[in-house]
Amino acid sequence: MEIGWLHFLRQRQVLVFFVLLSMSRVGAELEPYSVAEEMERGSFVANLGKDLGLGLTELSTRGARIISQGNKEYLQLKVQTGDLVINEKLDREELCGPTEPCLLYFQLLMEKPLEIFQAELRVEDINDHSPVFTEREMILKIPEKNSPVGAVFLLESAKDLDVGINALKNYTISPNSYFHIKMRVNPDNRKYPELVLDKALDYEEQSELSFILTAMDGGSPPRSGTATVRVVVVDINDNSPEFEQPFYEVKIPENSLLGSLIVTVSASDLDSGKNGEISYSFSHASEDIRKTFEINQKSGEVILATPMDFETTESYSIIIQATDGGGLFGKSTVRIQVMDVNDNAPEIAVSSITSPVPENLPEAVVMVFSIRDRDSGDNGKMICSIPEDLPFILKSSVENYYTLETEEMLDRESQAEYNITITVTDLGTPRLKTQHNLTVTVLDINDNAPQFAQKLYEVQVLEDTPIGSWIITIFANDLDTGNYGKISYTFLHASEDIRKTFEINPVSGEVHLRSCLDFEVIQFYTIRIQATDGGGLSEECTLLVKVIDINDNPPEVTISSFTKSIPENTERESTRGERSGGEADYLLSREPDPRAVA
Ligand SMILES: *[C@@H]1O[C@H](CO)[C@@H](O)[C@H](O)[C@H]1NC(C)=O
Ligand SMILES: *[C@@H]1O[C@H](CO)[C@@H](O)[C@H](O)[C@H]1NC(C)=O
Ligand SMILES: *[C@@H]1O[C@H](CO)[C@@H](O)[C@H](O)[C@H]1NC(C)=O
Repeated sequence: MEIGWLHFLRQRQVLVFFVLLSMSRVGAELEPYSVAEEMERGSFVANLGKDLGLGLTELSTRGARIISQGNKEYLQLKVQTGDLVINEKLDREELCGPTEPCLLYFQLLMEKPLEIFQAELRVEDINDHSPVFTEREMILKIPEKNSPVGAVFLLESAKDLDVGINALKNYTISPNSYFHIKMRVNPDNRKYPELVLDKALDYEEQSELSFILTAMDGGSPPRSGTATVRVVVVDINDNSPEFEQPFYEVKIPENSLLGSLIVTVSASDLDSGKNGEISYSFSHASEDIRKTFEINQKSGEVILATPMDFETTESYSIIIQATDGGGLFGKSTVRIQVMDVNDNAPEIAVSSITSPVPENLPEAVVMVFSIRDRDSGDNGKMICSIPEDLPFILKSSVENYYTLETEEMLDRESQAEYNITITVTDLGTPRLKTQHNLTVTVLDINDNAPQFAQKLYEVQVLEDTPIGSWIITIFANDLDTGNYGKISYTFLHASEDIRKTFEINPVSGEVHLRSCLDFEVIQFYTIRIQATDGGGLSEECTLLVKVIDINDNPPEVTISSFTKSIPENTERESTRGERSGGEADYLLSREPDPRAVA
């Protein structure tokens, strides 16, 4: 009795309270019985009559009955037959949970005389439960690379309500190359699955993998439960950005508009998130490159920021760097070939100019100059020319060096100045030309002597013409200029008489009377006049002055004077008899003038 009580207390899972009856023969024990759980109602457990050696009717006549612990009537006694059967389905898991063995206690009570038999029913486990994972999906986040082969990751365990052999036995996972499963048994006998890494994870190779975790129990046949294990590989920045091309080459005309797209570079990064975010920049670029081009950090587009000039820079090499959010970078080189466009007109550089150019000089060098064109190819080839109708030629001894020379002797007196247009045209498209205008003046040489309008001047002057009167103006012309054309007039080899009587203005050529004439003394003067230019060339002409008599003497004197004058007049007429009448007319027409001036 005492022992039985303690026994009950120990069986804490069996919530059956035993009511003690103060009776005799209490404590007689029956064989322990056992029955598999989940048997249908009425299933046979044992025949108590047989076990107790009672007669067929004794059980009923003695009012035998079963007293179960608690209120549940698990068992029923068929008093007519003595069969002990199950009154309702027994669920071992509900009755005992994990406790094994699962024992139900009951008493067989008989009256007249009162007898109580103690008995126990062992409820046997059947494999009626599968292992179950509380979570259908487990997510493991594992950083790539950082986790070495052999690393262990704990997984959730499954629960199987069955006990003993039917309890959870083992875990398996669907075959994969990254993990295998290992089972760990805790001191409390719970079995945990552990995931063991067999191969380094690589986010870039496989960013996520899933497999089925199966928990198996030991039943026969075994039951199983599954869960999905999803391994999310956490990216670490283990990849540098890589350019699609290690080298980009583009050809761009130098006159490309500002803002035009030069090239778009592109790099990719296998990492995810920030580690895969790429920004582009120039790497160690010169000031010139940074000024000329701009790169879009995000798109990798390189655009033109300031004009290019083939003549300054024919090509650019730009190193472009793609940097990811984690600081790793890749590089690529862009080579920009600037294409020449005919954007430069030829240039003329004058080395020396000789102007004025002396006349009468063969092959005089007028100008030395060089030409150049900053463009290349045909854009830089040039033709140099001057108009054909000029007495000049272009000569070139060294490429692009020219001399402009006179083709024939120049004559200042026929043309004193030339406007020469030197035209340099390149062969580009479109053709560009440059002109240089040059005025060449011809330097005068004293190659012309003064020319008198007339070789002979004749004038008649009344003998009473006052002193200082203008008599005639002599005129000579000189084609030369300047000093060479400046004429001074002088009397040539003049006699004492002439020099006393006349004077000539050396500049104007005006002849004036210096002293009184006296017909009675001299009737004719023959004066040689020389015109001399600044260069020393001279020419001479003759001035005949005829003195006209007036009645200024008493008759006696006049007669002698007159007789003297006749022969001279006569002689002059005879020597000049063949001269044109025009000359005579001129002389006559000049007759009144002296008086008017005087
Ligand atoms: C668990 O299962 C694996 C694979 O099926 C097997 O290799 C291992 O021996 C089993 N472990 C136990 C304790 O049964
Ligand atoms: C040369 O050009 C100048 C200035 O244009 C002009 O005055 C002059 O008459 C020109 N000379 C000739 C010979 O054409
Ligand atoms: C040079 O002269 C030409 C012809 O006389 C004229 O058409 C041109 O405009 C001039 N060029 C310059 C730069 O003076």
